[in-house]
Amino acid sequence: MSGYKKFVVVGAGNLGSLIVEELLKQKAAGAVEEITIVTRPASKDNETNKAFAARGARIAAADLTDVSALTTALGGAHVVISTVSLTVIDAQVPVAQAAKAAGAHVFIPSEFGGPTDHLNDSLLGLKGALHAKLREVGPPLLLVYTGPTADTSWVGSPLVATGNAPISFTARNDVARFLVYVLVRAPAARLQNQTLRLEGDRASFNEIFKGYEERTGKKLDVTYRSLDSLRAKVAENPQDFDAYLHLIWATDGTNGTPDNGLYPEWNPTKVLDIIAPRK
Ligand SMILES: NC(=O)c1ccc[n+]([C@@H]2O[C@H](COP(=O)([O-])OP(=O)(O)OC[C@H]3O[C@@H](n4cnc5c(N)ncnc54)[C@H](OP(=O)(O)O)[C@@H]3O)[C@@H](O)[C@H]2O)c1
Repeated sequence: MSGYKKFVVVGAGNLGSLIVEELLKQKAAGAVEEITIVTRPASKDNETNKAFAARGARIAAADLTDVSALTTALGGAHVVISTVSLTVIDAQVPVAQAAKAAGAHVFIPSEFGGPTDHLNDSLLGLKGALHAKLREVGPPLLLVYTGPTADTSWVGSPLVATGNAPISFTARNDVARFLVYVLVRAPAARLQNQTLRLEGDRASFNEIFKGYEERTGKKLDVTYRSLDSLRAKVAENPQDFDAYLHLIWATDGTNGTPDNGLYPEWNPTKVLDIIAPRK
């Protein structure tokens, strides 16, 4: 058991809200003592924060550039989980500084996608390029790699590369469940300066599309693109997120050896069961 009982989520948006939900479950079970949501002052009274406050979370407003206000907001936290949006990934430097000043044992940066350690000057490379700075100013890091969410947005008229490469997918509620379970139950040494590689499912797009067609009887209109055309698109416009992601998924789409064994009963949802649930 880590002994960690006081948790902070910075930026409880799409993913962070699900992590707060899991923390609330663990609080009800007696495994978590305190949950704080750090939010920008303008978001303090939004519906999500008000609802979480009513269920026992503490809401602390702080500007993400104000280290002193952040340090006060994070005071007493054992673990600081950042789930801020990709658009403000650099804002995590003052958050990590404040986490260290507040005495936190672990800082989890907003990763929650495929591995970024080896990426540098690219869209998701922003995350990887930040690790060294976060290590320098903050508490020990825990990097959480989940692969793409098992989302439905790419089903319909999908555009993919070859479609044959295996990809690690994890649904967001499975990410939240795994993360909170491990933060409470794994030994602290497994959480400091470590990486968690989650894999809810490992499948290629073509396997998923075939399964979808078989289950639903609906024919998908898939457009395949060559790797060279994707490379050309990224070279022409490095901000082309769609081409960039499909290039990664077609060439390097898994998270490596999964750490799923840290939560033997995890039983994550398969992509196919999300996009085409059995009736
Ligand atoms: N693997 C995947 O397929 C996948 C998919 C989606 C996201 N992700 C990753 O998951 C992480 C969290 O993403 P998310 O979708 O949960 O984030 P999100 O909901 O878009 O944003 C999370 C929170 O960031 C805070 N924030 C602070 N400054 C902000 C600003 N200037 N603009 C917008 N938000 C700001 C907001 O909290 P307050 O309003 O409370 O301050 C917001 O609720 C990111 O690292 C993202 O890249 C991965």
